[in-house]
Amino acid sequence: MAQLETALGSDKSLIDLWSNIQGDALWKGRTGRGVRVGIVDSGVDTAHPELAGKIKASYQAVNESGQIVFKESTSGDQAGHGTACAGIITTLKTAVQAFSAPGDSVLIQPPVYAHFHNDVLLNGRHLALAPLERTDDGYQFNPRTFEAAIRPGTKLFILSHPHNPTGNVWSADELTAMGEICARHGILVISDEIHQDLIINPARKHIPFASLRPEFARNSITCTAPSKTFNLPGLQSANVFVPDRRLREELARQYERNMFPLVNVLGMVAAEAAYTHGEPWLEELLAYLRANHAHFAAAVNSATTKVRILPADSLYLAWMDCRGLGMDAASAMSDGST
Ligand SMILES: Cc1ncc(COP(=O)(O)O)c(C=O)c1O
Repeated sequence: MAQLETALGSDKSLIDLWSNIQGDALWKGRTGRGVRVGIVDSGVDTAHPELAGKIKASYQAVNESGQIVFKESTSGDQAGHGTACAGIITTLKTAVQAFSAPGDSVLIQPPVYAHFHNDVLLNGRHLALAPLERTDDGYQFNPRTFEAAIRPGTKLFILSHPHNPTGNVWSADELTAMGEICARHGILVISDEIHQDLIINPARKHIPFASLRPEFARNSITCTAPSKTFNLPGLQSANVFVPDRRLREELARQYERNMFPLVNVLGMVAAEAAYTHGEPWLEELLAYLRANHAHFAAAVNSATTKVRILPADSLYLAWMDCRGLGMDAASAMSDGST
């Protein structure tokens, strides 16, 4: 508490708000659409033991409807733990450093978010590419391509789930295939689930990778955040779940080596407010995004045959097939046309 008071100065209302976080509300979504997660800062244990206890206790919730990522494991040491961090990209970089060595490789599924490429290379690791296959109206996962991309030094798989930019919302079968292959090859799964709440196709449901099997939970790090869902990226607040104690401690050590790993208090307050009160707003947002997607696709697809907007199961982004324009990626980029 002393730390908080120092951070917040005399603003008692913020201290009270933060102190009164309802752990349960943080973890349990009401609609069952996705995962609601909470915040446990390493400093909370000592600064605010009551809050830390409340949040940790809420891990005991059972994953009946896919709402909760982790079940409490039988060993207290292995209890699923979340921690707050400044951002998912920071966590991806930190995990690459903690769980692989220079020269090792990291498995990714292009086309995928640029940071999955760049941050791996920036850290002196190689990329093991398992491209998604183009279908008539989207992309698909092929387990044979996935396994064939694995090399002896492949240590990590960074999963984009739902997938940015294709919008694929991975099914239980697809996730199970990925999880089993990674387990067979001793590859740790980093599941970036930042887009989990933005499901555009109501027929699809986000299934947290770690919720499928206890062994998947133990062999994974799950990243989620309120930033995409509630438009809070400026407040630098995300959640990381590392059920396995050894992995959790190693990740924490690498954070400690790299930075002063405290979290923006305003970001935590905003996350708490969003998770607790944001559900109705999110429902309205989803209706709006679905209509925007449909409008944009219809307008572009009817205006030209050279650009095609692919149907998307998730994301507020549109993935456009621009090959009909006859430009290569480099000239399109330098032209500023993308
Ligand atoms: C797949 C994916 N992961 C992570 C991020 C960014 O996360 P953060 O701002 O927490 O670093 C984004 C933002 O575009 C994203 O699309």
